Amino acid sequence: MNAPKIIAIDGPAAAGKGTLAKRVAAHLGYDHLDTGSLYRAVASKTLRLGLSPEDAAQSFTVADLDATDLRSEKVAQQASVVAVVPAVRAALLAFQRDFARKPPGGTGAVLDGRDVGTVVCPWPDTLKFFVTASIDARAKRRYDELRARGESPMYASVFAEMAERDKRDSQRSAAPLKPADDAILLDTSDLSADDVFQAALAAIQGKTR
Ligand code: C5P
Repeated sequence: MNAPKIIAIDGPAAAGKGTLAKRVAAHLGYDHLDTGSLYRAVASKTLRLGLSPEDAAQSFTVADLDATDLRSEKVAQQASVVAVVPAVRAALLAFQRDFARKPPGGTGAVLDGRDVGTVVCPWPDTLKFFVTASIDARAKRRYDELRARGESPMYASVFAEMAERDKRDSQRSAAPLKPADDAILLDTSDLSADDVFQAALAAIQGKTR
């Protein structure tokens, strides 16, 4: 199968884009980049080292992705704060584009995030998905995820934090969260991870050339 070489999967938190991106990448033998982890790495540096968002982004290296706090809710919130700063976004752009055009394995790349289809890889030959779900479905998924990790979150706080992050990500002026004009929309509220994967695969096969 001669699938598109760059696949962009954007959407809000806990919509299922990370799970889908990993599965699509494994299926096609492509490399996967979770672009949110770059913003989380910058956020983690601002919190741990007291750097400004600009300095943390300009000194970003792949080693920063090994920080142990990247998956915490505190870092997630701070990531959406640093992500508003245009200089932070600009500093991370080249890394993401290089990964897309020259993936380590040399075959193809799947990138997931908020602006991959609109800003990072807006090109016509990028196959773009926008994966979304109701805020209730997403907050419930994140709540279950945190409990599975052994945490004891309050559902109301998980919901409120998600709503706050959605608002900041969608209303910022630099690269706001929104579907690219040519993105394929997938609403995962009532779909299993398998259903979502099958729907994406059908679209990828439709784009086979
Ligand atoms: O996807 P994840 O929850 O790890 O992203 C953390 C934060 O990083 C998001 O809330 C968003 O503010 C920011 N982000 C972004 N652009 C991306 C990926 C993530 O602004 N491409």
